[in-house]
Amino acid sequence: SARSRLIVVANRLPVHRVKRASGSGWETSPGGLVSALAPMLREREGAWVGWPGYAGEAPRPFEHERMSLIPVGLSRSDLDGFYLGFSNATLWPLYHDAVRYPEYHRRWWAPYVDVNNRFAKITARHVADGDLVWVQDYQLQLVPLMLRQRKPGVRIGFFLHIPFPPVELFAQLPWRQQLLEGLLGADVVGFQTKVGAQNFVRAARRFAGARGHEGLLEHRGRRIQVRHFPISIDYAAIDSAARRPEVAQAAAEIRKHTAGGRKLLLGVDRLDYTKGIDLRLRAFETLLERYENSNDVACFVQIAVPSREHSPEYADMRTRIEQLVGHINGTYSERGLTPVHYLYRNIPFDELLAYYLAADAMVVTPLRDGMNLVAKEYVATRFDNAGALVLSEFAGAAQELKQAIQVNPHDVDGIAAALDQALTMPQDEIERRMRSMRSRVRRHDVYAWASSFVEAMAS
Ligand code: UDP
Ligand code: G6P
Repeated sequence: SARSRLIVVANRLPVHRVKRASGSGWETSPGGLVSALAPMLREREGAWVGWPGYAGEAPRPFEHERMSLIPVGLSRSDLDGFYLGFSNATLWPLYHDAVRYPEYHRRWWAPYVDVNNRFAKITARHVADGDLVWVQDYQLQLVPLMLRQRKPGVRIGFFLHIPFPPVELFAQLPWRQQLLEGLLGADVVGFQTKVGAQNFVRAARRFAGARGHEGLLEHRGRRIQVRHFPISIDYAAIDSAARRPEVAQAAAEIRKHTAGGRKLLLGVDRLDYTKGIDLRLRAFETLLERYENSNDVACFVQIAVPSREHSPEYADMRTRIEQLVGHINGTYSERGLTPVHYLYRNIPFDELLAYYLAADAMVVTPLRDGMNLVAKEYVATRFDNAGALVLSEFAGAAQELKQAIQVNPHDVDGIAAALDQALTMPQDEIERRMRSMRSRVRRHDVYAWASSFVEAMAS
Protein backbone atom coordinates (compact mmCIF):
# COMPACT_ATOMS: atom_id res chain seq x y z
CA SER A 1 0.00 0.00 0.00
CA ALA A 2 1.04 3.63 -0.32
CA ARG A 3 1.54 3.73 3.45
CA SER A 4 4.20 1.06 3.87
CA ARG A 5 7.73 2.36 4.25
CA LEU A 6 10.27 1.43 1.58
CA ILE A 7 13.79 0.38 2.56
CA VAL A 8 16.34 -0.05 -0.21
CA VAL A 9 19.35 -2.29 0.44
CA ALA A 10 22.20 -2.06 -2.07
CA ASN A 11 25.94 -2.57 -2.00
CA ARG A 12 26.47 1.16 -2.57
CA LEU A 13 24.71 4.07 -0.87
CA PRO A 14 23.19 6.60 -3.33
CA VAL A 15 25.86 9.14 -2.27
CA HIS A 16 29.63 9.39 -2.38
CA ARG A 17 32.03 11.28 -0.16
CA VAL A 18 33.65 14.41 -1.57
CA LYS A 19 36.51 16.45 -0.14
CA ARG A 20 35.96 20.18 0.05
CA ALA A 21 37.95 23.07 1.48
CA SER A 22 35.42 23.14 4.33
CA GLY A 23 35.98 19.44 5.13
CA SER A 24 34.43 16.36 3.57
CA GLY A 25 30.75 16.08 2.63
CA TRP A 26 28.38 13.91 0.63
CA GLU A 27 27.07 14.26 -2.90
CA THR A 28 24.20 12.34 -4.47
CA SER A 29 25.54 9.88 -7.05
CA PRO A 30 24.33 10.26 -10.63
CA GLY A 31 22.15 7.62 -12.29
CA GLY A 32 18.59 6.59 -12.98
CA LEU A 33 18.32 4.16 -10.06
CA VAL A 34 18.95 6.96 -7.60
CA SER A 35 16.67 9.44 -9.40
CA ALA A 36 13.82 6.89 -9.45
CA LEU A 37 14.17 5.72 -5.87
CA ALA A 38 14.96 8.99 -4.09
CA PRO A 39 11.43 10.45 -4.48
CA MET A 40 9.90 7.12 -3.41
CA LEU A 41 12.05 7.08 -0.29
CA ARG A 42 11.03 10.65 0.55
CA GLU A 43 7.33 9.94 0.01
CA ARG A 44 7.36 6.77 2.03
CA GLU A 45 9.73 7.93 4.77
CA GLY A 46 12.03 5.13 3.84
CA ALA A 47 15.75 4.56 4.12
CA TRP A 48 18.68 3.31 2.04
CA VAL A 49 21.14 0.81 3.52
CA GLY A 50 24.54 0.54 1.80
CA TRP A 51 28.31 0.80 1.82
CA PRO A 52 29.67 4.38 1.73
CA GLY A 53 32.34 3.54 -0.88
CA TYR A 54 35.58 3.54 1.14
CA ALA A 55 37.27 1.03 3.47
CA GLY A 56 36.96 1.43 7.21
CA GLU A 57 34.45 2.15 9.90
CA ALA A 58 31.06 3.41 8.77
CA PRO A 59 29.69 6.79 9.84
CA ARG A 60 26.46 6.85 11.88
CA PRO A 61 23.13 6.92 9.99
CA PHE A 62 22.48 10.41 8.56
CA GLU A 63 20.07 12.44 6.44
CA HIS A 64 21.02 13.66 2.98
CA GLU A 65 18.63 15.61 0.77
CA ARG A 66 15.70 14.29 2.81
CA MET A 67 16.79 10.64 2.47
CA SER A 68 17.74 8.54 5.52
CA LEU A 69 21.00 6.79 4.82
CA ILE A 70 22.25 3.83 6.84
CA PRO A 71 25.92 3.09 6.16
CA VAL A 72 27.38 -0.42 6.38
CA GLY A 73 31.12 -0.46 7.05
CA LEU A 74 33.47 -2.73 5.08
CA SER A 75 37.12 -3.27 6.06
CA ARG A 76 39.95 -3.76 3.57
CA SER A 77 39.77 -7.49 4.11
CA ASP A 78 35.97 -7.52 3.62
CA LEU A 79 36.56 -5.68 0.36
CA ASP A 80 39.15 -8.25 -0.78
CA GLY A 81 37.01 -11.32 -0.08
CA PHE A 82 33.45 -10.04 -0.52
CA TYR A 83 33.81 -7.32 -3.18
CA LEU A 84 36.87 -7.96 -5.36
CA GLY A 85 36.77 -11.71 -4.68
CA PHE A 86 33.38 -13.42 -4.55
CA SER A 87 31.27 -10.61 -6.04
CA ASN A 88 33.56 -9.53 -8.84
CA ALA A 89 35.86 -12.49 -9.59
CA THR A 90 33.36 -15.35 -8.98
CA LEU A 91 29.79 -14.11 -9.55
CA TRP A 92 30.44 -11.32 -12.08
CA PRO A 93 32.22 -13.49 -14.69
CA LEU A 94 30.00 -16.55 -14.04
CA TYR A 95 26.77 -14.57 -14.45
CA HIS A 96 28.11 -12.92 -17.63
CA ASP A 97 28.31 -16.25 -19.44
CA ALA A 98 31.81 -16.99 -18.08
CA VAL A 99 33.47 -14.65 -20.60
CA ARG A 100 36.33 -14.79 -18.08
CA TYR A 101 37.12 -17.88 -15.99
CA PRO A 102 35.15 -17.60 -12.71
CA GLU A 103 37.34 -18.37 -9.70
CA TYR A 104 35.91 -20.46 -6.86
CA HIS A 105 37.62 -19.96 -3.50
CA ARG A 106 36.34 -20.98 -0.10
CA ARG A 107 38.28 -18.04 1.38
CA TRP A 108 36.00 -15.67 -0.60
CA TRP A 109 32.74 -17.42 0.20
CA ALA A 110 33.13 -16.95 3.97
CA PRO A 111 33.38 -13.12 3.75
CA TYR A 112 30.49 -13.03 1.24
CA VAL A 113 28.28 -14.79 3.81
CA ASP A 114 29.63 -12.61 6.58
CA VAL A 115 29.03 -9.28 4.77
CA ASN A 116 25.55 -10.36 3.59
CA ASN A 117 24.79 -11.18 7.23
CA ARG A 118 25.96 -7.75 8.32
CA PHE A 119 23.67 -6.08 5.76
CA ALA A 120 20.73 -8.21 6.94
CA LYS A 121 21.42 -7.51 10.62
CA ILE A 122 21.70 -3.75 10.14
CA THR A 123 18.61 -3.68 7.91
CA ALA A 124 16.63 -5.70 10.48
CA ARG A 125 17.30 -3.01 13.10
CA HIS A 126 15.61 -0.38 10.93
CA VAL A 127 12.50 -2.20 9.68
CA ALA A 128 9.10 -2.98 11.15
CA ASP A 129 6.27 -5.34 10.15
CA GLY A 130 4.54 -4.21 6.96
CA ASP A 131 7.61 -2.41 5.55
CA LEU A 132 8.77 -3.15 2.01
CA VAL A 133 12.44 -4.04 1.74
CA TRP A 134 13.95 -3.96 -1.75
CA VAL A 135 17.36 -5.67 -2.04
CA GLN A 136 19.51 -4.90 -5.11
CA ASP A 137 21.95 -6.97 -7.14
CA TYR A 138 24.41 -9.85 -7.08
CA GLN A 139 26.49 -8.65 -4.15
CA LEU A 140 23.57 -9.29 -1.74
CA GLN A 141 21.88 -12.51 -2.85
CA LEU A 142 21.83 -14.03 0.64
CA VAL A 143 20.16 -11.02 2.26
CA PRO A 144 16.50 -11.92 1.49
CA LEU A 145 16.57 -15.17 3.49
CA MET A 146 18.83 -13.74 6.23
CA LEU A 147 16.39 -10.87 6.67
CA ARG A 148 13.28 -13.07 6.58
CA GLN A 149 14.70 -15.21 9.38
CA ARG A 150 15.05 -12.10 11.54
CA LYS A 151 11.92 -10.23 10.38
CA PRO A 152 9.21 -12.57 9.06
CA GLY A 153 6.68 -9.69 8.97
CA VAL A 154 8.29 -7.60 6.21
CA ARG A 155 7.72 -7.88 2.45
CA ILE A 156 11.00 -8.56 0.66
CA GLY A 157 11.86 -7.96 -3.00
CA PHE A 158 15.10 -8.73 -4.81
CA PHE A 159 16.15 -7.36 -8.18
CA LEU A 160 19.18 -8.68 -10.10
CA HIS A 161 20.72 -5.97 -12.32
CA ILE A 162 23.01 -8.41 -14.16
CA PRO A 163 22.05 -11.52 -16.18
CA PHE A 164 21.07 -14.77 -14.45
CA PRO A 165 23.07 -17.43 -16.31
CA PRO A 166 21.85 -20.63 -17.98
CA VAL A 167 21.53 -23.47 -15.50
CA GLU A 168 24.46 -25.39 -17.06
CA LEU A 169 26.80 -22.55 -16.05
CA PHE A 170 25.17 -21.77 -12.71
CA ALA A 171 25.60 -25.46 -11.84
CA GLN A 172 29.38 -24.91 -11.50
CA LEU A 173 28.98 -22.82 -8.35
CA PRO A 174 29.97 -24.83 -5.27
CA TRP A 175 27.51 -22.67 -3.26
CA ARG A 176 24.65 -22.76 -5.79
CA GLN A 177 22.08 -24.10 -3.33
CA GLN A 178 22.86 -21.50 -0.65
CA LEU A 179 22.54 -18.66 -3.17
CA LEU A 180 19.20 -19.98 -4.44
CA GLU A 181 17.88 -20.41 -0.90
CA GLY A 182 19.00 -16.85 -0.18
CA LEU A 183 17.08 -15.45 -3.15
CA LEU A 184 14.03 -17.61 -2.47
CA GLY A 185 13.75 -15.86 0.88
CA ALA A 186 12.19 -12.94 -1.06
CA ASP A 187 8.51 -12.54 -1.98
CA VAL A 188 9.38 -11.15 -5.42
CA VAL A 189 12.53 -12.00 -7.38
CA GLY A 190 13.00 -9.78 -10.45
CA PHE A 191 15.28 -10.05 -13.48
CA GLN A 192 16.12 -7.84 -16.47
CA THR A 193 14.86 -10.29 -19.09
CA LYS A 194 12.41 -13.13 -19.52
CA VAL A 195 15.29 -15.52 -20.17
CA GLY A 196 16.91 -14.47 -16.88
CA ALA A 197 13.70 -15.29 -15.01
CA GLN A 198 13.43 -18.65 -16.82
CA ASN A 199 17.06 -19.52 -16.03
CA PHE A 200 16.44 -18.80 -12.35
CA VAL A 201 13.28 -20.91 -12.26
CA ARG A 202 15.13 -23.89 -13.77
CA ALA A 203 17.98 -23.53 -11.28
CA ALA A 204 15.58 -23.17 -8.32
CA ARG A 205 13.70 -26.31 -9.34
CA ARG A 206 16.83 -28.34 -9.99
CA PHE A 207 19.02 -27.31 -7.05
CA ALA A 208 16.68 -25.97 -4.35
CA GLY A 209 13.61 -28.20 -4.70
CA ALA A 210 11.30 -25.34 -5.69
CA ARG A 211 8.12 -26.15 -7.63
CA GLY A 212 6.14 -24.16 -10.14
CA HIS A 213 7.13 -22.08 -13.14
CA GLU A 214 7.95 -18.57 -14.33
CA GLY A 215 5.48 -16.28 -12.63
CA LEU A 216 5.07 -18.27 -9.44
CA LEU A 217 7.33 -20.63 -7.52
CA GLU A 218 6.61 -22.55 -4.33
CA HIS A 219 9.38 -23.22 -1.86
CA ARG A 220 9.20 -24.42 1.77
CA GLY A 221 5.50 -23.62 1.94
CA ARG A 222 5.88 -20.05 0.61
CA ARG A 223 5.01 -18.48 -2.74
CA ILE A 224 7.55 -16.43 -4.64
CA GLN A 225 6.74 -14.23 -7.64
CA VAL A 226 9.42 -14.53 -10.35
CA ARG A 227 9.20 -12.03 -13.21
CA HIS A 228 11.21 -9.77 -15.45
CA PHE A 229 11.24 -6.01 -14.91
CA PRO A 230 13.58 -4.39 -17.49
CA ILE A 231 15.26 -1.39 -15.85
CA SER A 232 15.33 1.92 -17.66
CA ILE A 233 16.39 5.57 -17.41
CA ASP A 234 14.86 8.95 -16.60
CA TYR A 235 13.77 9.63 -20.18
CA ALA A 236 12.09 13.01 -19.59
CA ALA A 237 15.05 14.41 -17.64
CA ILE A 238 17.58 13.31 -20.28
CA ASP A 239 15.43 14.46 -23.20
CA SER A 240 15.00 17.93 -21.72
CA ALA A 241 18.64 18.23 -20.60
CA ALA A 242 19.76 17.33 -24.14
CA ARG A 243 17.65 20.11 -25.67
CA ARG A 244 19.55 22.87 -23.87
CA PRO A 245 21.58 25.10 -26.22
CA GLU A 246 24.78 24.53 -24.18
CA VAL A 247 24.63 20.84 -25.06
CA ALA A 248 24.20 21.52 -28.79
CA GLN A 249 27.11 23.96 -28.59
CA ALA A 250 29.35 21.41 -26.87
CA ALA A 251 28.33 18.77 -29.44
CA ALA A 252 29.29 21.13 -32.26
CA GLU A 253 32.72 21.67 -30.65
CA ILE A 254 33.26 17.90 -30.42
CA ARG A 255 32.31 17.46 -34.08
CA LYS A 256 34.64 20.26 -35.12
CA HIS A 257 37.72 19.48 -33.04
CA THR A 258 37.55 15.70 -32.59
CA ALA A 259 35.81 14.53 -35.74
CA GLY A 260 37.07 17.39 -37.93
CA GLY A 261 34.58 16.73 -40.72
CA ARG A 262 34.60 12.95 -40.34
CA LYS A 263 31.67 10.88 -39.10
CA LEU A 264 31.85 10.08 -35.40
CA LEU A 265 31.42 6.60 -33.94
CA LEU A 266 31.05 6.50 -30.14
CA GLY A 267 31.56 3.91 -27.40
CA VAL A 268 30.83 4.63 -23.70
CA ASP A 269 31.47 1.92 -21.12
CA ARG A 270 32.93 1.19 -17.72
CA LEU A 271 36.26 -0.36 -18.59
CA ASP A 272 35.08 -3.94 -18.10
CA TYR A 273 35.90 -7.16 -19.97
CA THR A 274 32.19 -7.86 -20.46
CA LYS A 275 31.77 -4.73 -22.60
CA GLY A 276 33.54 -6.02 -25.73
CA ILE A 277 35.58 -2.82 -26.14
CA ASP A 278 38.58 -4.61 -27.68
CA LEU A 279 36.60 -6.52 -30.33
CA ARG A 280 34.70 -3.35 -31.23
CA LEU A 281 38.00 -1.50 -31.78
CA ARG A 282 39.23 -4.41 -33.90
CA ALA A 283 36.08 -4.07 -35.98
CA PHE A 284 36.83 -0.39 -36.50
CA GLU A 285 40.41 -1.32 -37.45
CA THR A 286 38.94 -3.75 -39.99
CA LEU A 287 37.06 -0.85 -41.60
CA LEU A 288 40.24 1.21 -41.76
CA GLU A 289 42.11 -1.73 -43.30
CA ARG A 290 39.47 -2.61 -45.80
CA TYR A 291 38.39 0.68 -47.25
CA GLU A 292 40.71 3.17 -48.82
CA ASN A 293 40.41 6.64 -47.26
CA SER A 294 38.26 5.37 -44.40
CA ASN A 295 40.42 7.40 -42.00
CA ASP A 296 39.05 10.44 -43.85
CA VAL A 297 35.52 9.15 -43.39
CA ALA A 298 35.13 8.23 -39.72
CA CYS A 299 36.77 8.38 -36.30
CA PHE A 300 36.01 6.43 -33.14
CA VAL A 301 35.65 8.07 -29.71
CA GLN A 302 35.89 5.53 -26.88
CA ILE A 303 35.06 6.77 -23.37
CA ALA A 304 36.27 4.20 -20.83
CA VAL A 305 35.20 4.85 -17.25
CA PRO A 306 37.68 3.59 -14.61
CA SER A 307 36.22 0.64 -12.67
CA ARG A 308 37.39 -1.98 -10.12
CA GLU A 309 40.98 -0.91 -10.71
CA HIS A 310 42.31 -3.07 -7.83
CA SER A 311 41.32 -6.22 -9.70
CA PRO A 312 44.07 -7.76 -11.89
CA GLU A 313 41.55 -8.75 -14.62
CA TYR A 314 40.51 -5.12 -14.97
CA ALA A 315 44.09 -3.83 -14.93
CA ASP A 316 45.02 -6.36 -17.69
CA MET A 317 42.03 -5.36 -19.77
CA ARG A 318 43.04 -1.72 -19.53
CA THR A 319 46.58 -2.48 -20.69
CA ARG A 320 45.26 -4.50 -23.63
CA ILE A 321 42.83 -1.82 -24.76
CA GLU A 322 45.44 0.93 -24.46
CA GLN A 323 47.90 -1.13 -26.52
CA LEU A 324 45.27 -1.68 -29.16
CA VAL A 325 44.41 2.04 -29.33
CA GLY A 326 48.13 2.80 -29.70
CA HIS A 327 48.49 0.16 -32.40
CA ILE A 328 45.55 1.47 -34.45
CA ASN A 329 46.58 5.11 -34.12
CA GLY A 330 50.23 4.24 -34.86
CA THR A 331 49.19 2.48 -38.04
CA TYR A 332 46.49 4.80 -39.41
CA SER A 333 47.06 8.36 -38.14
CA GLU A 334 47.92 10.76 -40.93
CA ARG A 335 47.78 14.48 -41.71
CA GLY A 336 46.65 15.27 -38.21
CA LEU A 337 43.76 12.81 -38.35
CA THR A 338 43.75 10.40 -35.43
CA PRO A 339 41.37 7.47 -35.91
CA VAL A 340 40.72 6.57 -32.23
CA HIS A 341 40.15 9.14 -29.48
CA TYR A 342 40.41 7.38 -26.14
CA LEU A 343 39.32 8.97 -22.84
CA TYR A 344 40.01 7.05 -19.61
CA ARG A 345 38.09 9.00 -16.97
CA ASN A 346 34.66 9.88 -15.60
CA ILE A 347 32.80 12.32 -17.83
CA PRO A 348 30.36 14.85 -16.29
CA PHE A 349 26.81 14.02 -17.38
CA ASP A 350 26.28 17.18 -19.48
CA GLU A 351 29.45 16.49 -21.42
CA LEU A 352 28.35 12.89 -21.92
CA LEU A 353 25.08 14.15 -23.43
CA ALA A 354 27.11 16.32 -25.83
CA TYR A 355 29.05 13.23 -26.97
CA TYR A 356 25.79 11.29 -27.46
CA LEU A 357 24.40 14.17 -29.49
CA ALA A 358 27.57 14.52 -31.57
CA ALA A 359 27.70 10.83 -32.57
CA ASP A 360 26.62 9.59 -36.00
CA ALA A 361 26.50 6.11 -34.53
CA MET A 362 26.62 4.77 -30.99
CA VAL A 363 28.39 1.41 -30.74
CA VAL A 364 27.28 -0.78 -27.82
CA THR A 365 28.74 -4.27 -28.14
CA PRO A 366 28.92 -6.03 -24.75
CA LEU A 367 29.62 -9.78 -24.84
CA ARG A 368 26.88 -9.99 -22.20
CA ASP A 369 25.08 -7.21 -20.28
CA GLY A 370 22.12 -7.23 -17.89
CA MET A 371 20.51 -4.23 -19.61
CA ASN A 372 22.95 -1.53 -20.78
CA LEU A 373 21.67 1.91 -19.85
CA VAL A 374 24.09 3.71 -22.17
CA ALA A 375 22.06 2.48 -25.16
CA LYS A 376 18.85 3.85 -23.63
CA GLU A 377 20.50 7.16 -22.65
CA TYR A 378 21.67 7.60 -26.24
CA VAL A 379 18.14 7.09 -27.51
CA ALA A 380 16.69 9.54 -24.96
CA THR A 381 19.28 12.17 -25.95
CA ARG A 382 18.45 12.07 -29.68
CA PHE A 383 15.48 14.45 -29.72
CA ASP A 384 16.64 15.24 -33.28
CA ASN A 385 15.77 11.63 -34.25
CA ALA A 386 19.21 11.35 -35.83
CA GLY A 387 21.97 8.88 -34.98
CA ALA A 388 22.23 5.14 -35.55
CA LEU A 389 22.56 2.55 -32.79
CA VAL A 390 24.69 -0.59 -33.19
CA LEU A 391 23.67 -2.92 -30.36
CA SER A 392 24.81 -6.32 -29.15
CA GLU A 393 22.15 -8.99 -29.24
CA PHE A 394 23.53 -10.12 -25.84
CA ALA A 395 22.56 -6.93 -23.99
CA GLY A 396 19.22 -6.96 -22.16
CA ALA A 397 18.38 -3.73 -24.03
CA ALA A 398 18.26 -5.70 -27.31
CA GLN A 399 14.94 -7.21 -26.16
CA GLU A 400 13.38 -3.75 -26.31
CA LEU A 401 15.44 -1.84 -28.90
CA LYS A 402 14.53 -4.01 -31.86
CA GLN A 403 15.14 -1.23 -34.38
CA ALA A 404 18.83 -0.99 -33.50
CA ILE A 405 21.35 -2.56 -35.88
CA GLN A 406 21.86 -5.72 -33.85
CA VAL A 407 25.17 -7.58 -33.91
CA ASN A 408 26.90 -10.64 -32.50
CA PRO A 409 29.63 -8.94 -30.40
CA HIS A 410 32.04 -11.87 -30.92
CA ASP A 411 31.91 -11.50 -34.70
CA VAL A 412 34.47 -8.84 -35.61
CA ASP A 413 33.60 -8.87 -39.33
CA GLY A 414 29.91 -8.70 -38.43
CA ILE A 415 30.50 -5.61 -36.25
CA ALA A 416 32.57 -4.05 -39.05
CA ALA A 417 29.68 -4.61 -41.47
CA ALA A 418 27.26 -3.09 -38.95
CA LEU A 419 29.50 0.00 -38.57
CA ASP A 420 29.55 0.34 -42.33
CA GLN A 421 25.77 -0.04 -42.45
CA ALA A 422 25.36 2.61 -39.72
CA LEU A 423 27.63 5.05 -41.60
CA THR A 424 25.80 4.62 -44.90
CA MET A 425 22.18 4.23 -43.78
CA PRO A 426 19.77 6.70 -45.44
CA GLN A 427 18.66 9.54 -43.12
CA ASP A 428 15.00 8.62 -43.34
CA GLU A 429 15.67 5.07 -42.21
CA ILE A 430 17.83 6.27 -39.30
CA GLU A 431 15.02 8.60 -38.30
CA ARG A 432 12.31 5.97 -38.54
CA ARG A 433 14.30 3.58 -36.36
CA MET A 434 15.17 6.26 -33.80
CA ARG A 435 11.57 7.47 -33.48
CA SER A 436 10.38 4.00 -32.70
CA MET A 437 13.16 3.33 -30.15
CA ARG A 438 12.46 6.68 -28.46
CA SER A 439 8.80 5.89 -28.11
CA ARG A 440 9.63 2.58 -26.43
CA VAL A 441 12.03 4.13 -23.89
CA ARG A 442 9.66 7.06 -23.24
CA ARG A 443 6.85 4.67 -22.29
CA HIS A 444 9.10 2.39 -20.24
CA ASP A 445 11.19 4.75 -18.13
CA VAL A 446 12.81 4.13 -14.77
CA TYR A 447 9.78 5.46 -12.88
CA ALA A 448 7.56 2.86 -14.56
CA TRP A 449 10.17 0.21 -13.67
CA ALA A 450 10.37 1.19 -10.00
CA SER A 451 6.62 1.50 -9.49
CA SER A 452 5.86 -1.81 -11.16
CA PHE A 453 8.37 -3.56 -8.90
CA VAL A 454 7.12 -1.90 -5.73
CA GLU A 455 3.55 -2.71 -6.71
CA ALA A 456 4.48 -6.39 -7.15
CA MET A 457 6.13 -6.36 -3.72
CA ALA A 458 3.14 -4.74 -2.04
CA SER A 459 0.56 -7.11 -3.56
N1 UDP B 1 28.44 6.90 -16.87
C1 UDP B 1 29.13 7.34 -15.78
N2 UDP B 1 30.30 8.03 -15.98
C2 UDP B 1 30.79 8.28 -17.20
C3 UDP B 1 30.10 7.80 -18.32
C4 UDP B 1 28.92 7.10 -18.10
O1 UDP B 1 28.70 7.14 -14.65
O2 UDP B 1 31.86 8.90 -17.33
C5 UDP B 1 27.14 6.20 -16.62
C6 UDP B 1 26.23 6.12 -17.82
O3 UDP B 1 25.60 7.37 -17.99
C7 UDP B 1 25.30 4.99 -17.42
C8 UDP B 1 26.16 4.12 -16.50
O4 UDP B 1 27.36 4.85 -16.27
O5 UDP B 1 24.18 5.49 -16.69
C9 UDP B 1 26.51 2.79 -17.12
O6 UDP B 1 25.39 1.94 -17.04
P1 UDP B 1 25.29 0.66 -17.98
O7 UDP B 1 23.99 -0.01 -17.66
O8 UDP B 1 25.47 1.03 -19.42
O9 UDP B 1 26.53 -0.27 -17.59
P2 UDP B 1 27.16 -0.72 -16.16
O10 UDP B 1 28.31 0.21 -15.94
O11 UDP B 1 26.07 -0.61 -15.13
O12 UDP B 1 27.64 -2.11 -16.40
C1 G6P C 1 27.04 -2.74 -12.44
C2 G6P C 1 26.44 -3.50 -11.27
C3 G6P C 1 26.22 -2.59 -10.07
C4 G6P C 1 27.51 -1.86 -9.74
C5 G6P C 1 28.05 -1.10 -10.97
C6 G6P C 1 29.39 -0.40 -10.72
O1 G6P C 1 26.11 -1.82 -12.92
O2 G6P C 1 25.22 -4.11 -11.66
O3 G6P C 1 25.80 -3.33 -8.94
O4 G6P C 1 27.32 -0.96 -8.67
O5 G6P C 1 28.22 -2.03 -12.04
O6 G6P C 1 30.33 -1.29 -10.19
P1 G6P C 1 30.99 -1.11 -8.75
O7 G6P C 1 31.73 -2.38 -8.52
O8 G6P C 1 31.88 0.08 -8.88
O9 G6P C 1 29.89 -0.87 -7.75
